[in-house]
Amino acid sequence: MAEAASPRVYRCYAKVNLTLEVLGRRADGYHELASLVQTVSLADTLRVAPAEAISCTVGGLSLLEEENLVLRAASLLQAHTGAPAGAALTLGKRVPAAAGLGGGSSDAAAALVALNRLWGTRLPMRRLADLAVRLGSDVPFFLRGGTALMRGRGEQLDWLPPMPPRWLVVLAPPHALPRKTAALFGALAPTDLGDGARTLALAERLQRRVPLRELDLVNGFARVARGAFPRLAEAWETAERLAGRPFHLSGAGPALFALADNAEDARQVARRVRTLGFPARVARTVRRGHAAE
Ligand code: C5P
Repeated sequence: MAEAASPRVYRCYAKVNLTLEVLGRRADGYHELASLVQTVSLADTLRVAPAEAISCTVGGLSLLEEENLVLRAASLLQAHTGAPAGAALTLGKRVPAAAGLGGGSSDAAAALVALNRLWGTRLPMRRLADLAVRLGSDVPFFLRGGTALMRGRGEQLDWLPPMPPRWLVVLAPPHALPRKTAALFGALAPTDLGDGARTLALAERLQRRVPLRELDLVNGFARVARGAFPRLAEAWETAERLAGRPFHLSGAGPALFALADNAEDARQVARRVRTLGFPARVARTVRRGHAAE
């Protein structure tokens, strides 16, 4: 029996990649990764209400139906479980799309969890994870969120203890690169590849609850992102000058983030880098991938 009959609103948190090392290309066309991933408070909202059929309206952004991972998640769960119910889904986009912040993947993971509950289908986490990876390599991470060591194509996850909360600033220059993620993976040269050692070393330190340091952060897409996104290199340099600290790429970019000392420091940095004309948001690390409001 379906458990909840009234609408619920879920927050779908974004992520940053504290490290992202690409180890090499696999026979199946995907790349082997080693990444330290962390959810942050920047979030979309997903409202879920009972309905006869599945529908999804999106506010804050125009999304093509076939690119809407929430609809794809709903159809996949329905096909897999044979649930006869529908759902009226309303997605409020606040996380910049296709920026390297995992917004769409987080929405999809929240949809799986929310509908598994609404429809009373009760799939256990590992079955939801099997469905999640079919929607995207980093969707399984968002089923739980927090801090994780991500390997394989993104689906092998080792959960780490929650980090002491950190404030950060997320800067998201817009772009119009079609099939961005595939394009950036395809542009990697052998010199961009890593061996995963820096990621494993950071995972080991976080396991021992040693605080994160600026020099722990690394991203194998840094070189190709500068070439692929027009004017990113210039914006990156200016952001670092205005903020007086390094900015780091998240995912395959073009989103950048900087660590802050506290909330006030983060607000000041956001104010300064906003003069670039791109969205700059203050965020903090969170221990979860989604939360019902
Ligand atoms: O899994 P997802 O749909 O997010 O991946 C989008 C594209 O990014 C893939 O089609 C593939 O080209 C590339 N990719 C990759 N290796 C990964 C994840 C993604 O090459 N581990």
